[in-house]
Amino acid sequence: MSEYNEHINYYGALYSSPELRRHVKYDEYIDKCVSVATRTLKLCSTDTVLDIGSGLGDTGKILSSRVNRVYCCDIDVANIELGNRNINNIENISYDQITARPPFLSFIPDNHIDKAYAHNVFEYRPTEILVTYLEELARVLKVGGMFHTVYSIRKTADHKPSHLEDIKGDIDSAIQTLNYDTIRNEEYIGNPKDIPQIGRLVYGVIPSRVDVGNYESLDAAPLACWDAVTSLMAVEILIKKR
Ligand SMILES: C[S@@+](CC[C@H](N)C(=O)[O-])C[C@H]1O[C@@H](n2cnc3c(N)ncnc32)[C@H](O)[C@@H]1O
Repeated sequence: MSEYNEHINYYGALYSSPELRRHVKYDEYIDKCVSVATRTLKLCSTDTVLDIGSGLGDTGKILSSRVNRVYCCDIDVANIELGNRNINNIENISYDQITARPPFLSFIPDNHIDKAYAHNVFEYRPTEILVTYLEELARVLKVGGMFHTVYSIRKTADHKPSHLEDIKGDIDSAIQTLNYDTIRNEEYIGNPKDIPQIGRLVYGVIPSRVDVGNYESLDAAPLACWDAVTSLMAVEILIKKR
């Protein structure tokens, strides 16, 4: 089974099982996402917000009561269906499917978004995907609009800082070419618990099989691995459209 399919099954299980949600401390994770987005992007009641790679849409759902409008979106049709059930009947939030090919965000008009974030989305995707999003965000963000992303670099055979630097090169030059203001552009290597800015907001390297209780088939379940994570490589980017 691919990592991608495990992911679909994981969210299906998470949606229907309060026990799994408790076990993997899902609500604690969502609270962290909400507070990091609120603080980092200085969210306010007039903001139109874009959540990229929304999963079940829980972060956007909580934020919808604090901002003007939330757009959730995802690539995964199973997640989109679950997410739409989850946000059912809330007026100022929607959940769209990104277009399969670039530019991804064609459902968003130009200069429409005040704040955008993508939490734990790009670890599964090649760097070009993030670069394409940076290009699209330059279109959909209002002037002064901000984008925040945090994601971990998955374990590779080459588990060295140079690996991270290689990946970051393309991203950094896209940020420059697209003329964003860089507010924060950090690379973290270490124990997520020692990185207060993003600790528990990143999925990390799973050192060994993780106990997910009755959900034995979910041994790749990313949320379940927090307490077992001892080291990770992560990227945090906060940029502003000029
Ligand atoms: C690890 S989950 C994180 C979900 C949510 N952001 C959270 O923090 O709970 C990653 C999500 O990103 C979605 N995703 C992966 N690649 C994507 C892409 N290129 N565009 C949009 N969503 C994507 C996956 O389907 C999944 O829902």
